Amino acid sequence: CGIIGYIGPEQATGVILDGLRRLEYRGYDSAGIAVQDNGRLEYRKKAGKLANLDAELAERPLPESHAGIGHTRWATHGVPNDANAHPQLSNDGRVAVVHNGIIENFATLRAELGAEGVEFTSDTDTEVAAALLGRAVNRGNDLTVAMREVSKQLHGAFTLVAIDSQEPDVIVAARRNSPLVVGVGQGENFVASDVAAFIDHTREAIELGQDQVVTITANDITVTDFDGGPAETRAYHVDWDTTAAEKDGYDWFMRKEIFEQPKAISDTLLGRYSPQGELTLDEIHISPETLRRVNKIIILGCGTAHYAGMVAKYAIEHWVRIPCEVELASEFRYRDPIVDSQTLCVAISQSGETADTLQAIRHAREQGAKVIAICNTNGSTIPRESDAVIYTYAGPEIGVASTKGFTTQLIACYLLGLYLAQVRGMKFGDEIRTIMDELEAMPAKMQSVLDHADQIYTLAKGMEDEEDFIFIGRHVGYPIALEGALKLKEIAYLHAEGFAAGELKHGPIAIINPGMPVFAVVPPQGRDQLHDKVVSNIQEVRARGARTIAVAEQDDNEVDQFAEVVISLPKVSTLLQPVLAVVPLQLFACEIATLLGNDVDQPRNLAKSVTVE
Ligand code: G6P
Repeated sequence: CGIIGYIGPEQATGVILDGLRRLEYRGYDSAGIAVQDNGRLEYRKKAGKLANLDAELAERPLPESHAGIGHTRWATHGVPNDANAHPQLSNDGRVAVVHNGIIENFATLRAELGAEGVEFTSDTDTEVAAALLGRAVNRGNDLTVAMREVSKQLHGAFTLVAIDSQEPDVIVAARRNSPLVVGVGQGENFVASDVAAFIDHTREAIELGQDQVVTITANDITVTDFDGGPAETRAYHVDWDTTAAEKDGYDWFMRKEIFEQPKAISDTLLGRYSPQGELTLDEIHISPETLRRVNKIIILGCGTAHYAGMVAKYAIEHWVRIPCEVELASEFRYRDPIVDSQTLCVAISQSGETADTLQAIRHAREQGAKVIAICNTNGSTIPRESDAVIYTYAGPEIGVASTKGFTTQLIACYLLGLYLAQVRGMKFGDEIRTIMDELEAMPAKMQSVLDHADQIYTLAKGMEDEEDFIFIGRHVGYPIALEGALKLKEIAYLHAEGFAAGELKHGPIAIINPGMPVFAVVPPQGRDQLHDKVVSNIQEVRARGARTIAVAEQDDNEVDQFAEVVISLPKVSTLLQPVLAVVPLQLFACEIATLLGNDVDQPRNLAKSVTVE
């Protein structure tokens, strides 16, 4: 969910609506706003996308106000209808709350409050927090004290932002395991799920820690822990501005972000390699001695980030010769994994807020492992809770389906692999240099793939009526096949599956029907047997009538004979090919979803940043 609170001289409703628009990628099942109105609270909320709330506000405008809160929801408790939309209010309408997360003990609390006569009008866990806050302020506490008290009663993960009609000059927020940042303006302040919400107004932010409460007025910001004691925070400057969060003439953020990838990967590489040939990852606060003792690496992530981790495994094991596992973060801690102080965990997360990944790294650290985060969001939770971080510099990624997030994660994984190889003193000098040279040439090569986007768009035309798509690949091409299929599922809502090409014959080949599109990611020609094996796999599906589309290196003279369509990639070494090979698949999914008339940036049922487990 996306949350914002504003207090200052401007009209709160407008500021909050703009903020919600920038947060909408975090969830778009319903939206709502509550504002102060001379000793009362006024609110509007609507199921569906923000446009529905806009329409409601046009019909029934909110009064002028200088303080208020807003929310855009990704439903957890209760279907996305008007009643379950946030804000939720206390029975007397005195307190309004917006919430992100899940209050795990809500059923018990709801029963207790119900016995006291509280009436509930929604199915949400949030309404319980509103009732508790209402009860606490009516007992004579100010909203800040009430928030501390209530936060201590709640189990689970939450960010709460509240206003009290009897205290019109403050907004109070609390967080546990859910994102919350403060925007520091001049004569105005903000609280929000992420900086995108207030980037139009200020680029100065404060990152809060766990279990903290913040009270903002137009001129003050006070942060304490849940007991009212002093709390540690970190101020930072946001290094991108609002133009980075605009569509810039593209029809979708996703398409814009696909085309931003050459710059994103070049920014991620910037300054990481000295002219003397030394790799410097300055955010690594783990001593070389500790890294030399590592005997196992576990890579954790969800969705697209998990696929980046799969590519990383091939590269890291090849370069560093340390056994490397890749695991879905949501599976990790529940299986009693073998982790100790010689384990290095690598957590990959674009948002830095994915609850599954966060819980996985907490578990790893409890067992003594060191954690390196690969993350795109400064000020987010996963890097803060890690021992080290390699930031990707993709800029804000708004489209729910990750694209530049993914390719910059790949770059960061390569850098990490090379860094570990260097730290462990492997005789690697020249090879590192060669790979770095190749990486530095990557933005231009990627640009040349993008320059041929029209070929992919032409291919997509007419294919939007297909019902099933298969993607195959071997080695690092396998995760790319999975990612290509995921993109289609996410935004085109089509059935798409990725398989290890060699595994086809062990079952999946049975589903091939005549005419079914099969995309094959073909490794570079001639350097190992991989290429020939994938070419054979293409022949196998073709023999069953499949329509074959190969993503292959330019001048590949074998693949031409067996694939109906060949999408050419510039030459790169096998391990680095995923950075280029994924691009046509991203473009294809984006185009198919557009042809189908889907909302590419905000696909149904999904949210960009999933802060519940
Ligand atoms: C969500 C998004 C996916 C993303 C995954 C991991 O499910 O819809 O696109 O890959 O989370 O996100 P992260 O921010 O941790 O990389």
